[in-house]
Amino acid sequence: IRRSVIRGTGHYLPERVVENSWFEDKLDTSDEWIRTRTGIERRHFAEDGQTTSDLATRAAQAALANSGLSAGDIDGVILATSTPDFTFPAVATMVQANLGIKSGFAYDVQAVCAGFVFALANADAMIRGGLANRVLVIGAETFSRIMDWTDRGTCVLFGDGAGAVVLEAQESSGNSADRGILASDLNSDGQYRDLLYVDGGVSSTGTAGQLRMQGNLVFRHAVEKLAKTAHTALDKAGLQTSEVDWLVPHQANLRIITATAQKMELPMDKVVLTVAEHGNTSAASIPLALSVADREGRFQQGDVIVTEAIGGGLSWGSVIIRW
Ligand code: ACO
Repeated sequence: IRRSVIRGTGHYLPERVVENSWFEDKLDTSDEWIRTRTGIERRHFAEDGQTTSDLATRAAQAALANSGLSAGDIDGVILATSTPDFTFPAVATMVQANLGIKSGFAYDVQAVCAGFVFALANADAMIRGGLANRVLVIGAETFSRIMDWTDRGTCVLFGDGAGAVVLEAQESSGNSADRGILASDLNSDGQYRDLLYVDGGVSSTGTAGQLRMQGNLVFRHAVEKLAKTAHTALDKAGLQTSEVDWLVPHQANLRIITATAQKMELPMDKVVLTVAEHGNTSAASIPLALSVADREGRFQQGDVIVTEAIGGGLSWGSVIIRW
């Protein structure tokens, strides 16, 4: 059977780093509050004029280099974002053009913070279905563009960045010991729209809008749903929690990550953490964490990696990878 294997990873973070203390003279907040309530210490913000497709292109180039492939080897680009350069065309097509790819498909997936998990499952289905052989799967965001800088409950949480993986078709016996994406679990429940949304858009206000969030309610859903989706995906893969080598969670809040690891009975030394350095980069957070951990040489071939995320929609899910 065909299976999708991660052949390479890459990421890009804008050069501008903003420490928690930067917010202290603008808002009634403190480094202490942000650190203890979220685990965030600093984040990167894109420069003026630097767009989501710019960040995504850099991450994609890094992933290609890491894979030992050239742009011509890629026959699909799937990009997760909620902060596209333009309403259309898809950011994926802009990255495709920047890389000089002229064939295959390119489109965006929008599932907010769960976007990369959705895009990865989508790319895996395309590969297993025979629609592509090598897909660049990218998560890229410039959430700094949709912040309400007067709302201390949201603007201290988010950062900009991009991460990418190259997913490649490989023949497999179908055994869970073989490399590749083993299983996915995706969920959405649109009745929770008001918990987390952007209050503008093309067909409503005609403006880009700003992010609105009832953080404590999102927090509760996250703690309840993330361990559950990870367990469901592990079940589908025929694996036990004891067989998990790494949890690579969406990096929204250290307290959510810790609670999820606890529910899964995973020690924190099996959890990849980037939230302190990156903040919440929405769809970019998981591919960023994968790429950072990969650069540090933390993953061994054959390791079981659990990714999970929840975000606006609500949408949430998990993908299980045999590295
Ligand atoms: N500095 C100081 N005080 C603050 C700040 C701040 N930056 N932000 C909020 N507070 C205050 C609140 O006003 C509140 O004060 P009050 O009690 O006087 O009203 C108090 O802190 C507690 O507020 P809560 O919202 O209950 O704090 P909580 O512990 O829940 O932390 C946080 C807030 C960090 C937002 C948390 O709820 C969270 O991380 N939620 C999940 C967010 C998330 O995971 N989003 C994921 C998806 S993102 C996406 O899809 C785009």
